[in-house]
Amino acid sequence: MRTQVGIVGAGPAGLMLSHLLHLEGIESVVLEAHSRHYVEQRVRAGVLEQGTVDLLIETGVGDRLKQQGLIHRGIELSFGGRRHRIDFSNLTPGRAITVYAQHEVIKDLIQARLEAGGLIHFAVSDISLHGLGTSTPAIGFRKGDELRELECDFIAGCDGSHGISRASIPARALKVFERAYPFAWLGVLAEAAPASEELIYTYHERGFALFSMRSPKITRLYLQCAPGEDMANWPDARIWEELQARLATSDGWRPAEGPILQKGITGMRSLVAEPMQFGRLFLAGDAAHIVPPTGAKGMNLAIADVRVLARALAEFYASGRRELLDRYSATCLRRVWKVQRFSWWMTSMLHRFDA
Ligand code: APR
Repeated sequence: MRTQVGIVGAGPAGLMLSHLLHLEGIESVVLEAHSRHYVEQRVRAGVLEQGTVDLLIETGVGDRLKQQGLIHRGIELSFGGRRHRIDFSNLTPGRAITVYAQHEVIKDLIQARLEAGGLIHFAVSDISLHGLGTSTPAIGFRKGDELRELECDFIAGCDGSHGISRASIPARALKVFERAYPFAWLGVLAEAAPASEELIYTYHERGFALFSMRSPKITRLYLQCAPGEDMANWPDARIWEELQARLATSDGWRPAEGPILQKGITGMRSLVAEPMQFGRLFLAGDAAHIVPPTGAKGMNLAIADVRVLARALAEFYASGRRELLDRYSATCLRRVWKVQRFSWWMTSMLHRFDA
């Protein structure tokens, strides 16, 4: 098997890269460890920034987003039982955030790729990367009982923070900066109409809480908890009690309750790997950096990376010039560090470090 760009991982980074390359006339093959069903149902982030929304719409994968996305022109910060609105329309004219679940973006991208004849191999295993320092890199993988090899011009490592792409770079060629926070988020999806139209970020003496939503019928809520927290300690009644205690405001507002459809615990850390390139392997998205979820930046940053990478690869294939490819890591890292700083700042402002 041969292709121009071999992509490891069918998350937002890998799928968007494959879509952008296709629009530039560049072939790619995506290799994904999980099934299509799994990646299309996996609950992750859900806030798209304006740049991400614009790119999805401009490149023809924004139809459902336009119909179903909830546009928010501000957020609320809550301290001492009082809310303070941050008005995006005044502060950043013409820009808003859109609430649209990451797995919906994934469905839209998979559909677009398959309709355009794109190749995505789901449920592959034993991925290994070879010849990264040569001009003929390759990806080995197993599909069913068969071992295969995909020869490529370039490899894009879009396989998240636990993937094999970053791990395939020799330690001496990579500098990794990391900070773990002394807390985690307990997140729930509840079947309850959102009691507020906008997101509410709450600082409370019992710890941080976030009120958000996924649709007009589904509320998404988060609570700061201990990093190694056992879900068994959190029956639904305790979750609601804690959410009500932290989120209720002095004017009598409280979140509406409903059956909890899903719950999980997310660790909080910041990580940057430099450079985001080794030979013909380019890292993008969570494979290269992790931000704590507080600023809702993870998916947006992944999309920003692959936009830079797609442009650089397009220039290479059109003219043979490598300048943009050579600058890929430096270009992305400028944004990555700014976003890291913002996410750390917002996390520090809103959480109790001694809770
Ligand atoms: N081989 C093939 N696929 C792999 C491997 C592997 N060894 N390891 C991981 N994957 C797949 C995962 O199953 C997943 O589908 O790679 C994909 C990586 O996707 P994400 O983790 O979603 O990462 P990314 O595309 O960078 O998206 C940005 O930032 O803050 C988060 O929620 C946000 O998940 C989003 C991410």
